[in-house]
Amino acid sequence: MNAPKPRAAHPPGEWPSAEVAARSLLFSPLRLRSGLQLLGRTWVPAMVPWRASEEGHVTPEVLAWYERLARGRPAVLVIEATGVRAVRSGPLLRLHDDAFIPGLHTLVETVRRASGGETRLLVQIIDFLAVRRRPERSVWFRRFFQPTTEHRAALATLGQCVPAEDTAFREACIALSEDEEAVVLHPRELEDLRFGARERVSDTHLDHIAALPQVLPPAFAAAAVRARTAGFDGVELHYAHAYTLASFLSRMNNRADGYGGSLEGRVRLPLEVFAAVRRAVGDDWTVGARFLGDEVIVGGNRIDDACNIAVKLAQAGLDFISISKGGKFDDARQPRVGESVYPYTGQSGHECMPTTRIEGGPFSRNVPLAAAVRLAVRQAGYATPVVGAGGLCAFGQMEGILERGEADLVAAARQSLADPDWWLKLRLGRGNEVRRCTYTNYCEGLDQRHKMVTCKLWDRHAPEDSATQISPDGRTLIAPAWTV
Ligand SMILES: Cc1cc2nc3c(=O)[nH]c(=O)nc-3n(C[C@H](O)[C@H](O)[C@H](O)COP(=O)(O)O)c2cc1C
Ligand code: SF4
Repeated sequence: MNAPKPRAAHPPGEWPSAEVAARSLLFSPLRLRSGLQLLGRTWVPAMVPWRASEEGHVTPEVLAWYERLARGRPAVLVIEATGVRAVRSGPLLRLHDDAFIPGLHTLVETVRRASGGETRLLVQIIDFLAVRRRPERSVWFRRFFQPTTEHRAALATLGQCVPAEDTAFREACIALSEDEEAVVLHPRELEDLRFGARERVSDTHLDHIAALPQVLPPAFAAAAVRARTAGFDGVELHYAHAYTLASFLSRMNNRADGYGGSLEGRVRLPLEVFAAVRRAVGDDWTVGARFLGDEVIVGGNRIDDACNIAVKLAQAGLDFISISKGGKFDDARQPRVGESVYPYTGQSGHECMPTTRIEGGPFSRNVPLAAAVRLAVRQAGYATPVVGAGGLCAFGQMEGILERGEADLVAAARQSLADPDWWLKLRLGRGNEVRRCTYTNYCEGLDQRHKMVTCKLWDRHAPEDSATQISPDGRTLIAPAWTV
């Protein structure tokens, strides 16, 4: 029997006194190119909590979630990935219509009030392509499979009788073993059958995919204008993980229309999206981007690609660059029938939200990527601030990253989820009260099942008061209160 992998140990708390915190780089200000003044280097990156309405509107639960995060007064809080096109996506926020502005305006006011005006508020804006649930096998063959002469020739090689009529041919295929169906179907069909159909940016035979370079720049620009109208301090363009613009940047993008292949081709649409957004919102409003320092998939982008992309984006005039890692569909685990493939289940996904079980541990794991990107950007002559993330959860750890110039801003997602007040506790010299994230991904498991995200530690620490919000399955929906 294999021994369980040892869990990585947390970096030591080394909690600062209030005086040390006040003198630290972590709590020192930074001015962005747009003129936005950040009061510190502390950053809560985007996290989807699955609390919007089915139509993508802000709900009281969304307000409560961000209000709670804002009470810890991070210098920057990034609102979850918010869709720029009218695509059904369940209870995730959207910005494809002016109807979303009033709700988002209330969200902005809520965060300003809760943070005493200290937290700058960005919204991450995203586009994604269609991903269908894994179908039941016979349903796929009967409803989606289009038999061709090639399929018939392949079935003949198996020594089987080959029905001429389509319905009978489909039934013959349903009777095949997994090995046999792999002979008959094209690799893409096999993937549709086994994982659910998933659109690619390279599917240029589909009109709506071919048209993405015309559709996305105005869609992102209009969403950014709405965000500005709602009162946000800026937007983060989501060029990371498994989504449309990350796929354009990827080495896997072999579009032949000038928007794929070479680095110039792959970066063209992300640059055009940025240019359209910048034109629409002006120079005095923050526009940054999050992309991958490493895709962690075979044939995908590595750090050298990320550095080249970063220099091009910095040259174009981004206000900040945020570096993430992995989170791709390409190596995701096969979903169960009726479920969708989830991009955080394969190796690339494990690198995106690393747990204490991962070889080498999650702590500062992705910082070398941010450091390499920052160095490349500086060597090219640009001062664009770089945000690092991944297992950041201790004062000395983050201060060291800033001192060594590995990043300009430090982002903590799960630690801020476990204890939204932790930034304030550090500032006030009360670090010994921080509720430390265990990095075992209970929260991520809920995200995977599209359930309202919570932290397992909240249940343990929640007071038994009637004001605490509880989910239908008995989970505490809001981090326990902390009094300064
Ligand atoms: C529940 C959950 C939801 C997330 N949603 C997003 C998202 O909407 N956009 C994004 O860029 N990253 C998202 N992430 C990734 C985080 O922003 C962060 O990069 C990752 O968790 C690693 O940082 P950490 O070690 O501080 O948690 C999410 C992470 C979690 C745990
Ligand atoms: S559920 Fe676990 S991994 Fe997620 S924030 Fe809480 S302690 Fe951290």
